[in-house]
Amino acid sequence: MEIKKICVLGAGLMGNGIAQVSAQAGYEVTLRDIEQRFIDGGMNNIKKNLSRDVEKGKMTQEQMNAILARIKPTLDLKEAATGADVVVEVVIEVMEVKKKVYAELEEIVPQHCLFFTNTSGLSITEMASVTKRPDRFIGTHFFNPVPVMRLLEIIRGHQTSDETLEIAKTWGKKIGKEVIIVKEAPAFVVNRILCTMINEAFFVLDEGLATAEDIDKGMVLGCNHPIGPLALSDLVGNDTLLRVVEGLQRELGDKYRPAPLLRKLVRAGNFGRKSGKGVYDYSKK
Ligand code: 3HC
Repeated sequence: MEIKKICVLGAGLMGNGIAQVSAQAGYEVTLRDIEQRFIDGGMNNIKKNLSRDVEKGKMTQEQMNAILARIKPTLDLKEAATGADVVVEVVIEVMEVKKKVYAELEEIVPQHCLFFTNTSGLSITEMASVTKRPDRFIGTHFFNPVPVMRLLEIIRGHQTSDETLEIAKTWGKKIGKEVIIVKEAPAFVVNRILCTMINEAFFVLDEGLATAEDIDKGMVLGCNHPIGPLALSDLVGNDTLLRVVEGLQRELGDKYRPAPLLRKLVRAGNFGRKSGKGVYDYSKK
């Protein structure tokens, strides 16, 4: 099956990045969110990223305009999903919300349409179970910032077909990603390891072993990580991290208990860069 039209549901951090790289690869994209401010935020981010590439001489203004013209932002789910060959669902990481979206989509999309879910760790099989196409359902886990990070983790659900896997792999390569194939398990491979490490950094901070700056400096200079774990948590969103770790605890036990400090920050609304404050304060930058 050849993919022509891609519908991306969710214009937030990950969704706008997926829409951008898909449009850059030549696909027609609809980008849907539930409020105009989310759509505006997503489109502005795409424009900012592409403008940076124009300034650096990596693409021309004409190429940027052509990419933007391939992305149709909308609030209307029916308009976004009608005729889509693939829906990439990037809505909030709450199983019941995702299931509701899939039930609605079933009434709109054509028979051949594939469902790709971008989730940080929820069960692909459980989401697929509410659709009429569990064989055409697969997990496509991207990394933030999407245009920069080279990996796409592809996760097969229990009933995902070989054909769906092949189409997802081909798409991943076409949008410039290296692909790894992973069996379904809580938080898959990368987040199982990464989020556990970041959670541990919150325990270390809470125990007063070092300042946030020195914890991050330690991991950057001592392990060659591009960014420290606490700064990374602010980048991906402390709320997102907490959801992943809670999922790990629920499914795999107390070895994965969320750090109380992480929970406290989320309760305070300190989600990280997107809210202006997380472990660090971004409000003055
Ligand atoms: N969007 C698009 N491009 C961006 C960007 C963004 N938000 N931020 C930076 N870039 C680009 C810059 O334009 C620059 O491009 P160039 O090489 O063409 O000049 C390049 O990335 C490097 O940027 P900077 O020099 O400004 O800054 P850094 O060198 O500090 O790099 C970073 C920024 C790439 C974000 C780097 O800090 C990094 O790699 N951090 C780790 C990111 C990471 O681990 N992501 C995975 C998170 S886990 C996840 O997403 C899974 C989820 O389920 C939880």
